[in-house]
Amino acid sequence: MLLSLAVMSAVAQISLAQLDTTSCGKSKGCLFAPQGCNSNPSSCQITMSYVMNGTDMVFELQGKPPSGGYMAIGFSYDMTMGNDSVSLCYQDNELLGYNEGKTFVSQATATTRHMLEAFTATNGETYCRIRRGISGNGNPMVFNLDMPYTIFLAHGPMNNGAPGYHQMNKWMLPQTAVTAYSVAGGFNPSTTAMPGSSMAPGGASSAPGGATTAPTPVMTTTKKNGADAAVSLFGCAAVALAVFSLTR
Ligand SMILES: *[C@@H]1O[C@H](CO)[C@@H](O)[C@H](O)[C@H]1NC(C)=O
Ligand SMILES: *[C@@H]1O[C@H](CO)[C@@H](O)[C@H](O)[C@H]1NC(C)=O
Repeated sequence: MLLSLAVMSAVAQISLAQLDTTSCGKSKGCLFAPQGCNSNPSSCQITMSYVMNGTDMVFELQGKPPSGGYMAIGFSYDMTMGNDSVSLCYQDNELLGYNEGKTFVSQATATTRHMLEAFTATNGETYCRIRRGISGNGNPMVFNLDMPYTIFLAHGPMNNGAPGYHQMNKWMLPQTAVTAYSVAGGFNPSTTAMPGSSMAPGGASSAPGGATTAPTPVMTTTKKNGADAAVSLFGCAAVALAVFSLTR
């Protein structure tokens, strides 16, 4: 009963903010979990997109957290949890944090910009957009995002304002350079992908080939080999790394 009411009220909002997967690999990078779900994005438990905007990263997350729960991105030097920089959203909120071992420690007082730009929860599908400064500003618990990290995606419940245990709803993605895609004229997640590879004037930057070097003028809406490789690598990597399975 409640659910069907929610479904009905969700219909009107459903097109407001959804992660547009048609521009994945073109104007932004995307990661999908679990493995193979990108052939049918609505079957994904969590999808992440990333694009660099000036000195910020813009991340989109869409997935199926429990009601009121969180979706999180973990940036890791290795393949295990602990010593990870974390960005998450829940309800109409965001948190910047750090995994000290398995314990989430909020870095809300950090000087790195971290803000929620959009949030919707409709019919069990939650979407949010987070803007995060690329630099950790020297805080060892807020990583500089200008180098590749192993990406963990997770969703789980919130317990008294803190992220609770994600159980099996955690997925390891390949090492990814999130700065591999950038925008020049502003990133509009509701805009569909520009066809082909239109060139844009310099000023935007990207680091093809997984490099993490200083910005160079490039096209803005074109496939970047490095990031593209990361996306397609996921299919293979996930097979090898599929230690997490779905419980719900
Ligand atoms: C996390 O790991 C990195 C790489 O090993 C290290 O440089 C950094 O100091 C660690 N951070 C903390 C807070 O332990
Ligand atoms: C970054 O995003 C802002 C806000 O959407 C936009 O106004 C600006 O043009 C973008 N900057 C770059 C360099 O693309």
